[in-house]
Amino acid sequence: MYKTEILSRIPSKILAVLQEIGQLADETGLSAYAVGGMVRDLLLIRENSDFDVVVEGDAIGLAQCLFKRWEGKIHVHSDFGTGTLTRSDGLKIDFVSARRETYPRPGALPFIRFGTILDDLRRRDFSINALAMSLNPATIGELVDCTSGLRDLQSGEIRTLHDRSFIDDPTRLFRAIRYEGRYGFQIVDSDQKHMFDAIGKGVLDLISGQRIRNEINRILPETSAPKIIRRMEEFDIFQNIHTGWQPPENFDALCDAARQAADWADKHLVKDSVEKASLFWMALLRDGSVIESVKDRLSLDNQLSKILVAKARLGNVLAKLSVHSERSQVYKLLKSYPIEALAFSIAEPEQPQWCAAKIKEYLTDLRLAQPLINGADLIQLNLTPGPKFAEMLWNTFAAQLDGKIQSKQEAFQILGRFNEN
Ligand code: CTP
Repeated sequence: MYKTEILSRIPSKILAVLQEIGQLADETGLSAYAVGGMVRDLLLIRENSDFDVVVEGDAIGLAQCLFKRWEGKIHVHSDFGTGTLTRSDGLKIDFVSARRETYPRPGALPFIRFGTILDDLRRRDFSINALAMSLNPATIGELVDCTSGLRDLQSGEIRTLHDRSFIDDPTRLFRAIRYEGRYGFQIVDSDQKHMFDAIGKGVLDLISGQRIRNEINRILPETSAPKIIRRMEEFDIFQNIHTGWQPPENFDALCDAARQAADWADKHLVKDSVEKASLFWMALLRDGSVIESVKDRLSLDNQLSKILVAKARLGNVLAKLSVHSERSQVYKLLKSYPIEALAFSIAEPEQPQWCAAKIKEYLTDLRLAQPLINGADLIQLNLTPGPKFAEMLWNTFAAQLDGKIQSKQEAFQILGRFNEN
C-alpha cells in the first residue's frame, strides 16, 4: 500500500499531531512509529481513537518534550518505560519504548527489555496487530510489516506470531475471538487448534480474575457481542472459567435488551449515574448460584455483584405484580432494587407491556416522590418512634402515592385515623 494513500485516510488534525511527533523524534535522533490498533483500523478504514506510539529509544523523554509544547497532562510509568500524554484538546497518546518480552511462566506478566521496532512487533499478539507506520518525516506513512499483517488483513485472518502465544498470554484467547467477531475474520485453523490445546491444558486457570473480567468488559459492548459469546462457547471458555457457567440461550435478545435499557436510561435517568456495563453483564450472567462463584473468580466489584444478584431475584418480585397493582405496592416491591436491574427488566424479552410500564413509572416518578410528612412531623405530634410509628408513616406515604391524599393537611387527617386504630 502506498504511503500517500495511507496518509490520505488520516484526518488532517490527527495527521498534524503525528507529523509533529515524527518531526520532534527525528530532531532528537529517535525513530517513532504509530502501532497496533490504530494502524490496523486505518488500513481497514475504521475509526479508532487509540493512539499508541512506539519509540526506538527513550519514549518518556519524547513524551515529556511534547508535553512542554502542547501542555495538557502527562502520566509517566518509569518502570514500564511508558508515558501517556493527554493534550488539552482531549487527544490521548500512549508512548512506549520499543521492547522485547519474555514470559517467565504461562499466564504471568512478561519480563521486558528494550529493543527495536521489529522486536516490538514480533512480541505482539496477532499479525494484524503487529503493523507499524513510520512517523519520521522522510518515511512517514511507510508500513513496517515483518509478520505479513497486511496480507492477513486483506484475507481476513487472525494469526498468532508463534505457537506458544496463547500459553504465554491466555488473554489472547479472548482477543482472537473478539477480533474475529468484530471484523468478520477467521482465526486460522492452526491457531484454533492451539486455542483448544491451551484451554485443554487449563491456561485459563493461570490468569487473574481481573484480567478475564477486563477482556469480557471489552467484548460485551461490541456490536457483534452475541457472535463473540457463541464462539467463546464453542471453545468451552465459560465452562473453563467456572464449571456450570453457560451463557443464556437467548443471549442475543438479552444483549438487545441491554442496549435498549442503556438508551432508555440515557433519555429518562439523566440525573442518575447508571452503571452501563452492568446492563450487559446482566445479559450474560443470570443464574443466581453461578453468579456467586463467578463473581469471586472474576473479582467483580461490589456494585456489579449487587446488581447481578438483585437482578437474579427480581423475576420473583415482578411475579407478585399484576395489572391492577397500586402504585404504593409497586414502590414497596421495587424500592430496594438497583436502577440498572430495573431498567434492564423494562427491556427484557417477554416482559409484559403493563409490567414494563409499571417499572418505568417507578423509575421516573414513584422513586422520586417525597413524603408529605416525615418522622419529625410525628414527633411534633408527641408520637414516639417505633414499629407503629414507621407503619403509620408508610401508610400515609402509600395513600399519597396512590393519589388518595394531595396535601400535608390531608396527610395529617389520615394519620389521625391510623393513630386511632
Ligand atoms: N497487544 C498484544 N497482546 C495483548 C494485548 C495487546 O500483543 N495481550 C498489543 C497488540 O499489538 C495491540 C496493542 O498491544 O494492537 C494495543 O493493545 P490494545 O489497546 O488492547 O488493542 P488495540 O488493538 O489497540 O485496540 P482494540 O483491541 O480495542 O481494537
